[in-house]
Amino acid sequence: MKIIVFFIGFSFLGNFVFANFENAQKLMGKSDCLSCHAKAQNIVGPSFQDIANKYQKDSAALSHLAQSVKKGGSGHWGDLPMPPHPTLSEDEIKQMVSGLLSLAGQEEPEKRVEEKKSSILELQNATSEDIGRGQNLFQGKIRFAHEGPSCIACHHVKNDAIIGGGILAKDLTSVFSRLGEPGVRAILGAPPFPVMQTAYKDKALTKEEIFALVAFLNDADQKKLYQRPKDYGMGLFLSGILGAILLMLVYTLFGARRKKYSVNQAIYDRQMKSQ
Ligand code: HEC
Ligand code: HEC
Repeated sequence: MKIIVFFIGFSFLGNFVFANFENAQKLMGKSDCLSCHAKAQNIVGPSFQDIANKYQKDSAALSHLAQSVKKGGSGHWGDLPMPPHPTLSEDEIKQMVSGLLSLAGQEEPEKRVEEKKSSILELQNATSEDIGRGQNLFQGKIRFAHEGPSCIACHHVKNDAIIGGGILAKDLTSVFSRLGEPGVRAILGAPPFPVMQTAYKDKALTKEEIFALVAFLNDADQKKLYQRPKDYGMGLFLSGILGAILLMLVYTLFGARRKKYSVNQAIYDRQMKSQ
């Protein structure tokens, strides 16, 4: 009998805690939260588990976090920002935040490992066709289904400004190493950067496009040693000088038989003689 009472009590308690988070999760599913956050896994934003653990002993957590969600936040977890959510009501936000805070203390290490594994597996299934498609999409050789701008429109220019060309591959590499597959995937699904948000507003990438781009970026990362952009360095400068010298020689050759005086000189001389 005691055991049954204990069991009922326990499951009631369990239900209370879970129902709270699950309600919050349902609400968050209607907004954009779950494209950047998961229960036990870091995607673009920290996992709900980590957030709950971090703020476990903070009495002002609810109002601070509600503020972060409403107005957007950055610098609490890393260098990626969270976009603001001005259209959500205070009530909805409080429900979401208190729901995720209820996870405090429920570490689930096994689940983390599982989720990591499955995402790596999926990427391993990428064929060279997927990778090539991703590369073409990135460069704008294939248009996006919803007509968003090609990635190179912005990311190439940004790199060009640093040193002429070629830095692009290196830049992508560091992005993938830094954010990993879930991070890059989530950024493409719901860009946290205002410029990219505007560019892909109503022009969201499809799941297949995101997969191809992620496969391409991963491939670029793995092959980074072979994909070093060509570094012309001094060679470019010297070949410029050589070219200039060659051009001068060519002009000298063509110019060797050029008329030394104005065309009329010969006629003028003849006229003067015959007079
Ligand atoms: C585009 C990606 C993205 C979306 C969408 C997003 N978040 Fe975040 N979230 C982040 C990032 C990145 C951080 C870390 C920000 C920081 O370092 O301060 C974060 C942080 C948080 C935090 C912790 C804030 C703090 O101050 O410690 C909470 C709580 C949170 N998000 C809840 C939500 C909820 C609820 C939603 C949906 C309404 C949501 N997020 C939507 C990316 C996102
Ligand atoms: C309209 C311009 C624009 C377009 C188009 C664009 N981006 Fe971005 N992207 C940005 C800006 C701005 C940032 C913010 C960080 C920065 O300045 O690099 C960014 C950031 C990123 C990041 C995170 C970089 C980091 O180090 O945190 C990734 C990954 C990314 N973009 C991938 C893509 C991909 C893939 C495409 C093509 C589908 C694309 N972007 C198209 C402007 C753009």
